[in-house]
Amino acid sequence: MFGKQDKLINHAMAVVTGAGSGIGRAFAEALAARGGAVVCADINLETAQQTVDRITAAGGRAWALRCDVSVRAEVEALAEQAQALLPEPVSLVINNAGVGVGGKNIGEISLEDWEWTMGINLWGVIYGCHVFAPLLKQQGRGGIINVASSASFAAAPLMGPYNVTKAGVLALSETLAAETAGTGVNVTVLCPTVVNTNIFSAGRIHGGVPPVLNRIIELTGVSAEGVADTTLKALARGQLHVLPQFDARMIWRAKRLLPATYTRGAGLLSRLAAAKL
Ligand SMILES: NC(=O)c1ccc[n+]([C@@H]2O[C@H](COP(=O)([O-])OP(=O)(O)OC[C@H]3O[C@@H](n4cnc5c(N)ncnc54)[C@H](O)[C@@H]3O)[C@@H](O)[C@H]2O)c1
Repeated sequence: MFGKQDKLINHAMAVVTGAGSGIGRAFAEALAARGGAVVCADINLETAQQTVDRITAAGGRAWALRCDVSVRAEVEALAEQAQALLPEPVSLVINNAGVGVGGKNIGEISLEDWEWTMGINLWGVIYGCHVFAPLLKQQGRGGIINVASSASFAAAPLMGPYNVTKAGVLALSETLAAETAGTGVNVTVLCPTVVNTNIFSAGRIHGGVPPVLNRIIELTGVSAEGVADTTLKALARGQLHVLPQFDARMIWRAKRLLPATYTRGAGLLSRLAAAKL
């Protein structure tokens, strides 16, 4: 038998955005393997369907839906369709869809890139919380996982739009956690450093992906599957922040201990690294 909180992640009635790839696919597969029924939403219906095919081939239950999370009406439609498809009311929502943007300083990166990133990474999560939080609160039970990033607090240069959207997701999640405290709804915000997914090839990374990223992936060594499993268990425990890698936890502590020194140091180190490459 599962405890009351384990029910959040076992036999969940789940909606996962950006479920056609990477961390979203890992969340969807993990929930289905735990006996859940999963609506796999993605702007790319073909890859969402591939996730569903993998889940059904493994004996799980899942449905693919096309949804562009940056469009309010599409997220509202997603909620309605999910309620109709799932055998029971939605109990777990994972606002995961996101895109990578970077490679230029603030003032050089285009406003179109800012707007594109804000639409998906920030407004997408705002719409997801706006639409689903009242449903879960009304039920008196449920979970919301928002996928932010350690970029939300790391002040990494050349990633302005991405950092701003993820800082917004962090603040949104913390506020939602405060507002849902005691209501039976758990909120968790995931803040990884680098995870090996398609985000770098699919995004707008000006000047290409820096080779140092591959080295960081080797060193931090956390897979999308590992990140999803850690985060689901954290949600069941009622843990708000998930920093799944050592470097994420180091940056978090350094920033809190010496905020100004950390920030200047991050800038100087990044320029030094760029000059050496
Ligand atoms: N991979 C990393 O290193 C890393 C680190 C920190 C945070 N994240 C965050 O994890 C989340 C998942 O990214 P990933 O690494 O799995 O990348 P990914 O590119 O492998 O997957 C992202 C998925 O989101 C979908 N998507 C893109 N725009 C969308 C939209 N408008 N509406 C709906 N779906 C859309 C894509 O089609 C894709 O299937 C993102 O929010 C990302 O910012 C990733």
